[in-house]
Amino acid sequence: MIINDKSALPQTPMPIVIIGAGGIIKNAHLPAYKKAGFKVKGIFDLNFESSKALGAQFEIANVYKTLEELIAHGALLNAVFDVAVPADKIIDILVQLPGNSTVLIQKPMGENIEQANEILEVCRELNLTAAVNFQLRYTPFVNAARSIIDSGAIGEVFDIEVKVTTVTPWHLWDFLATNSRVEILYHSIHYIDMIRSFFGDPQRLLAKTVKHPTTTVSSTRSSIIFDYGDVKAARINTNHDHNFGSKHQHSYIKWEGTKGAIYAKMGLNLNYPDSVPDVFEYFIADEAGKGEWKTVELEGSWFPDAFIGPMANIMRFKEGADVLPTSVEDAIKTMQLVESAYQSSNRS
Ligand SMILES: NC(=O)c1ccc[n+]([C@@H]2O[C@H](COP(=O)([O-])OP(=O)(O)OC[C@H]3O[C@@H](n4cnc5c(N)ncnc54)[C@H](O)[C@@H]3O)[C@@H](O)[C@H]2O)c1
Repeated sequence: MIINDKSALPQTPMPIVIIGAGGIIKNAHLPAYKKAGFKVKGIFDLNFESSKALGAQFEIANVYKTLEELIAHGALLNAVFDVAVPADKIIDILVQLPGNSTVLIQKPMGENIEQANEILEVCRELNLTAAVNFQLRYTPFVNAARSIIDSGAIGEVFDIEVKVTTVTPWHLWDFLATNSRVEILYHSIHYIDMIRSFFGDPQRLLAKTVKHPTTTVSSTRSSIIFDYGDVKAARINTNHDHNFGSKHQHSYIKWEGTKGAIYAKMGLNLNYPDSVPDVFEYFIADEAGKGEWKTVELEGSWFPDAFIGPMANIMRFKEGADVLPTSVEDAIKTMQLVESAYQSSNRS
């Protein structure tokens, strides 16, 4: 079986300028762009020391002192503006971009549906080519699963399950300490978007998100059920508080079809951000319904390889590709499901 774990690349990569020089830029964006051969021409962060450090580490020619400098240079280069700042700061940056710019926005698309709608409005008004960096869809293990599913080898897929039982270092993000929304908005959002990319939008979503008795983080465990009717189903179960050793920790996505199944262990969640190795396995039943699990070594992982996909897609769209898969027009639907999940959780 031919399994494709790679994201499609543009013929001629566009230059990139980056706004924000935090953990995700350092651990994922910059290593991904290096691997893909994308050229980063400049970087800006409100904290100049952060951008200077990443500029030196990744040999970025321009470390700007102001956002205005970055925007002027980015516009001159016809670059992709790559925005990775806390979600409530996105809108302030977008309104300053010149009309018709190309922009990739790190998830989430705002802190709530009101901010998401505002972001969508600004993108429309400025005629931006804009996408949200929902990159789980483009991890090597999700690319590989999609290629098996598209080949028809596991038949009709009717079930997707995500389970995460781990310890997540929320303290890495200062801005999450006081947020009223954390687990679904900042973590399970990846699974919501990935499930949508296979099954489309559910009829409704049921959810409950809760916190640990001793933490100030507003929510750290979530259960989310996607209602697709009587046959097709998807569910997400996360617990970021399982601080009792690795033995009973889990982190996986499982797809089940009428002729087989696929299992992907997501190593990133089990030792964030350094990861442990992923595992990718599939089972194809023969005519008697028998089979065995086969393991495939994939190249790359969530960090950094998945981050090639959304950036490559926006460049490919500018080259004439028909669709921009995580465009703001599509991403708003993931944000609507996030909002539904919170509404469901808050319902008494
Ligand atoms: N897998 C993923 O997709 C993933 C993982 C981690 C974080 N993220 C997202 O990336 C974003 C940033 O996360 P992070 O981990 O880099 O956080 P971080 O706290 O490490 O860094 C944020 C950086 O943004 C800078 N900043 C804040 N406001 C700014 C502004 N107006 N202009 C320029 N710089 C500004 C800060 O100075 C800081 O350096 C968040 O929205 C987060 O949800 C996504």
